[in-house]
Amino acid sequence: MTVTSWNRLAGTSVLLDGFHALKHAVRFGAEVPVAVTVDRTAALALADELAPDVRDALDALLTEVPESTYTPLVPRPHPTGVAALAVRPSRAANLQKLAHTPRTAPVVVLDHPRNLGNAGAVIRLAAGFGATGVVTTGTLDPWHPTVVRGGAGLHFATAVERLTVEELPPGPLFALDPEGDDIRGTKLPDDAVLAFGSERSGLSAELRARADHLLSLPMRPQVSSYNLATSVAMTLYHWSTATGAPL
Ligand SMILES: C[S@@+](CC[C@H](N)C(=O)[O-])C[C@H]1O[C@@H](n2cnc3c(N)ncnc32)[C@H](O)[C@@H]1O
Repeated sequence: MTVTSWNRLAGTSVLLDGFHALKHAVRFGAEVPVAVTVDRTAALALADELAPDVRDALDALLTEVPESTYTPLVPRPHPTGVAALAVRPSRAANLQKLAHTPRTAPVVVLDHPRNLGNAGAVIRLAAGFGATGVVTTGTLDPWHPTVVRGGAGLHFATAVERLTVEELPPGPLFALDPEGDDIRGTKLPDDAVLAFGSERSGLSAELRARADHLLSLPMRPQVSSYNLATSVAMTLYHWSTATGAPL
């Protein structure tokens, strides 16, 4: 029954790979129609230790299956032996969250990102800082299983959507670029849209043309650039020091 449900839902659902992804998804309100574990006792012991707030929810969700049943369900078995499928939030719901005003925390834009791991790390950062959402432009699917794995299931803690530059949510657009003005001289407002360029080629011409401000992170002249996800981390931290967010 569980495997039948899994196979029916797998093509259209978000794979939550491992205990931590499932824990975060449940904590942030994901709808999880099916969840499996190779060892219920071990999974619930982890919940007792690390996530008592969702322990009862996990107890109700998890079905124990033999390892031979679990392994073919996932691309590579996770050390915690837990996997689940969640319903992907609708585009309409995400667009509503992204467009909602007044905005109390920035939207992060990744302009044509290439690296799935970077995108996942940025979604995790956005969740941690309570950002309104993460928008990607270009071809990368921000709900790709590798991005969800990198984001540790925290897609459900923010609004994650792919848009064109014309569709970006309202708000002053601050684009991060090593040639911009020093970010330390700017207070980032809560309704900021914070844009970051691609790992290979930086900000696209289209995004640059839309930007209201170009800002740089402090960096010695001999260094060309920082990694994309670390740039987002520094920028969100800079925003948080002015507002006291996310706590
Ligand atoms: C790996 S960098 C891109 C490097 C690319 N070769 C270029 O020409 O910009 C990815 C993104 O991180 C951000 N970034 C990296 N270092 C930065 C810095 N010192 N100041 C501002 N943004 C930076 C920018 O948004 C940049 O487009």
